[in-house]
Amino acid sequence: MTPDPTDTTATPARAKRRVALGVSGGIAAYKAAEILRGLQRAGCEVRVAMTEHATRMIAPLTFRALSGAHVIVDDYAPDNPDPIAHITFSQTVELFLVAPATANIIAKFANGVADDFLTSTYLASSAPVVVAPAMNTTMWQHPATARNLQRLRDDGVYIIEPDAGEMACGTFGPGRLSEPERIVAAVLQILDKHDGRAHDLAGERFLITAGATREEIDPVRFLSNRSSGRMGFALAEAARSRGAEVALVAGATSADAPAGVRVIRALSADEMQAAVRAKVSEATVFIGAAAVSDYRPAARAAQKLKKSGAALTLVLEPTPDILASVAAARHDGLLVVGFAAESENVVAHAREKLVRKKLDAIVANDITREGAGFDAETNIVTLIARDRDAPLELPLMSKLEAAHRILDEVVRLRRGARAASEAAG
Ligand code: C5P
Repeated sequence: MTPDPTDTTATPARAKRRVALGVSGGIAAYKAAEILRGLQRAGCEVRVAMTEHATRMIAPLTFRALSGAHVIVDDYAPDNPDPIAHITFSQTVELFLVAPATANIIAKFANGVADDFLTSTYLASSAPVVVAPAMNTTMWQHPATARNLQRLRDDGVYIIEPDAGEMACGTFGPGRLSEPERIVAAVLQILDKHDGRAHDLAGERFLITAGATREEIDPVRFLSNRSSGRMGFALAEAARSRGAEVALVAGATSADAPAGVRVIRALSADEMQAAVRAKVSEATVFIGAAAVSDYRPAARAAQKLKKSGAALTLVLEPTPDILASVAAARHDGLLVVGFAAESENVVAHAREKLVRKKLDAIVANDITREGAGFDAETNIVTLIARDRDAPLELPLMSKLEAAHRILDEVVRLRRGARAASEAAG
């Protein structure tokens, strides 16, 4: 589709954000490649610096190939194209991430030691610094490490706590590098925060369903629909960029899930309901954007159904209504938003669903209109909130922009709910 230059609703293309990735010498150094890719997918330009020890774990060439740029280990090296790299490198980035950060690099940062390129960059940088430690549990629990980390926190460094789990050395305990997708999410949130962009969803925890469900008929066939997952993914991306934590339960999708968001896969309506049930108690906002099948085969054939030439009748039974059950069992403070894809009497049908399913808001779209609905990059939606007299009709816009408008409605509802509870006591 050719963009319309008069369309002021289109999301403007953003300049790439510049991130420096420092890799120090832990076994988890190989995971830095995945972090680099995640950051790139989220629209960041990444430059890599490594410690000498890290180059024993993973070759600089890997990062050079992935980032398309020279990887600095030693700024005195003859092949370094920039003689004052520690200054230019550190002064031109918006964020400095060190992942994995060893106990040694943490100790050096905490004490202002600058005996190689990475540590000099730390001292020369005025960008926010994010450190993702990874080390053996005993080293992690050592009082010296705890002391050094506290110093970094006091100096304004963001720490992404390691996970607990099986370590490379075979022991169990805390010290394992946090998951690359979590690190990417944290970096994006910190970039947003330092960008000064609206952070009006900070503190909210979103649970969003997206995509189509698949209901199996036999081992090779299923019932499904044309949902691409794009609308739910756009909501997840928009909520994350506004400071929310986001978990996404995705069925079958044909679009890429946004970076920085936890994705839980659930193919059938039953699996989706189980995934939602497991997560909903942690959520403050639930958005049901998935196209959940309303019916499933009453029985799934264990073997592939044979062609007999005669007519075949498939008996269907209703699936659980995930959205309605979330709304019916909601805990205090949970906002619930649904979608209504309609082909006639759009607003009336959507409003009826809002009331029947006890929702706070519903996003209606007329799937017969060009540029709206399934499998498109754009959408035309009407927002109906329980406290609005008139529906809010929005024009054709990108799914990301539509997502932001839906989230504006969530923010408005949240403020209303807060004001009401303050007035009550
Ligand atoms: O009733 P209808 O299926 O049109 O409602 C659509 C809304 O309900 C969407 O938000 C969809 O995610 C949700 N839904 C659900 N579980 C179902 C069917 C729909 O959560 N079984």
